[in-house]
Amino acid sequence: MLGTDEFIKNAVEDMKKKIPGKAIIACSGGVDSMVSAALATLAVGDRLLAVYVDTGLMRKGETEEVRGMLQDMRINFKIIDAAEEFFASLKGVTDPEKKRKAIGERFIRVFEREAKEFGAEYLVQGTIAPDWIESGDGVRDTIKSHHNVGGLPKDMGMTVVEPLWNLYKDEVRAVARALGVRSSERQPFPGPALAVRCLDEVTPENIAIVREACFIVEDEIKKAADSGKMDLPWQYFAVLLPTRSVGVQGDRRAYGRTIVVRSISSIDGMTAAYSKIPQEVLDSISTRITGTMKDQVNRVVYDITNKPPATIEWE
Ligand code: XMP
Repeated sequence: MLGTDEFIKNAVEDMKKKIPGKAIIACSGGVDSMVSAALATLAVGDRLLAVYVDTGLMRKGETEEVRGMLQDMRINFKIIDAAEEFFASLKGVTDPEKKRKAIGERFIRVFEREAKEFGAEYLVQGTIAPDWIESGDGVRDTIKSHHNVGGLPKDMGMTVVEPLWNLYKDEVRAVARALGVRSSERQPFPGPALAVRCLDEVTPENIAIVREACFIVEDEIKKAADSGKMDLPWQYFAVLLPTRSVGVQGDRRAYGRTIVVRSISSIDGMTAAYSKIPQEVLDSISTRITGTMKDQVNRVVYDITNKPPATIEWE
C-alpha cells in the first residue's frame, strides 16, 4: 500500500470523481464501514448519508457508542430503530442458517427503504481485500452464510463505490488511526450480532440475557488485560445455551440457563486457539454472572475448543 496519508488523499480525490450525486452507506460501527464513511464524508460531505440499523441485537451500549462516533466525526447519519421488525422476522426461528438469512434479508429491506427516501444513487461499501479473496474460494461461505453490512447485494440499483477494496485489515486500522476513527482497535463482531450467540429462539428476553453476559465477559477480560493478568484476546464473548440445568438458590431448587465463556486468539479468524484465561479471571466472570444474573443463569462453562474443529461463534 501507499503511505497512509497518500492513500487517504487519493481515495478522497477518487471518490469526488466517482460520486457526483447522493450516496449512502450502512455503518455498523466496525472499522471498515466507519473508515469508508469517514473517507466518503471528506469527499462529498453531506451528500453522504450513513445509516446505522439498530437491529435490537447489538451489544450493551453499542448504539449509543456508534452515535457518539458518528457525531464526533461529523458524518451525516441516521439511526433506524428496527428492533421490532427484526424480532418479528426471527420469531420461531432456531436453525442457525435460517436465522442468518432472516437477518440478512430484513437488513436489506430496511436499508433499501432508507436509500430510496434519501434518493441515493451511489452505495459506498467497506469491502476489503480478504472479503473478495475469501469469497473467491467459497470455503467460508459453505460453513456459514456471512451477513455483513459491507456485503449488500449489487443489484440495489445504485453504483457501488468501494474505497478500501485493496486494503488488508491492518492497513484499514492504520487509516482509521490517521483519521481518528475510534473503532480502529475493536474486536470483530459478527453481522448477525447477538442472534448467533443465542442458541435458541431470538427473543428480546434471550437477547437481554446474552447481552448482559457478553458485557460481563468483555468487562472482566478487559480489566484483567489492563492489570497485566493476561493479554487481550483476539475475540471474547458469551454464548447463551438453550439447555437448562438444576442448581440451588438459597435453600431452593433452581432450574436456570447456561452461559458459555468463549475467548480465542487468532490472526485472521480463519483458524483460532482458545485462550488460556487465568483461573482467577474465570472465577470473577463466573461469580459476577451468577451473582448479578441469578434469576436467569445458574451455570457458567468455559469453551476449550480450537477452530477447527469448532468455529469461533457457536452458530
Ligand atoms: P466463525 O464463527 O465462522 O467466525 O469461526 C470467524 C470470524 O467471523 C466473524 N463472523 C462474522 N462476521 N458477518 C461478519 O461480518 C458474519 O455473518 C459473521 N459470522 C461470524 C466471527 O465473529 C469471527 O470473528
